[in-house]
Amino acid sequence: MSGAPAAGALAGKRVLVSAGPTFEDIDPVRFVGNRSSGKMGFAVAEAAREAGAEVVLVAGPVHLDTPAGVARIDVRSAAQMHAAVLGALPADVYVGAAAVADFTPRRVSEHKIKKTAGSDTLVLELVRTPDVLADVAAHPRRPALVVGFAAETHEVEHYARGKLAAKRVDLIAANLVGGAEGGFERDDNTLAVYWHGGEQRLGPAPKREVAAQLVALIAGRLPA
Ligand code: C5P
Repeated sequence: MSGAPAAGALAGKRVLVSAGPTFEDIDPVRFVGNRSSGKMGFAVAEAAREAGAEVVLVAGPVHLDTPAGVARIDVRSAAQMHAAVLGALPADVYVGAAAVADFTPRRVSEHKIKKTAGSDTLVLELVRTPDVLADVAAHPRRPALVVGFAAETHEVEHYARGKLAAKRVDLIAANLVGGAEGGFERDDNTLAVYWHGGEQRLGPAPKREVAAQLVALIAGRLPA
């Protein structure tokens, strides 16, 4: 499959997209974050809007303009993203393109953590965050199509198919991070999209183009 979805392919559908990193605060000036730019998720939101959907975009901390006609909710942490995404249901489609932190500091220090004389180490205790994608897929108001992303550096298909089953999602879009074709902080992307019984390669192409192809694939797999 190539090219954009047919005009109006998602008309009348509500599409919820999460994008960008999350920042997990350590103290008032420091956080644990990641290198997600948010570009892929924003491109998916834009492509879904262009295909006629009503689009809600839950965005982590990114420096990107809101695509025209898209309703944006800004969040910072994984916990906030979880609350915003679940609060925006129901939707026909959920695309979890955010790089949600897997761990967050157990405690946020009220004051800036100081260097301690005589100690060369600092131990941060991290606890698991909620899994937004898995919780959307298990929700009573589960969207008809739940789409996850996988950023893997090796054995992409193996891990992507594992995620498909473990998180009970309908599509997993995998990209290679760190390799020549991948992923974070880049404008071009190649996705391998997996579902039960099939797969499709999208790109390499600019993220906007890959996003349009993904939206066409989503529209084609959405129950009528
Ligand atoms: O298991 P892994 O983190 O690699 O799975 C990636 C997928 O799960 C992405 O779609 C991401 O948005 C989602 N995810 C999530 N909440 C988390 C961790 C990952 O929604 N806490």
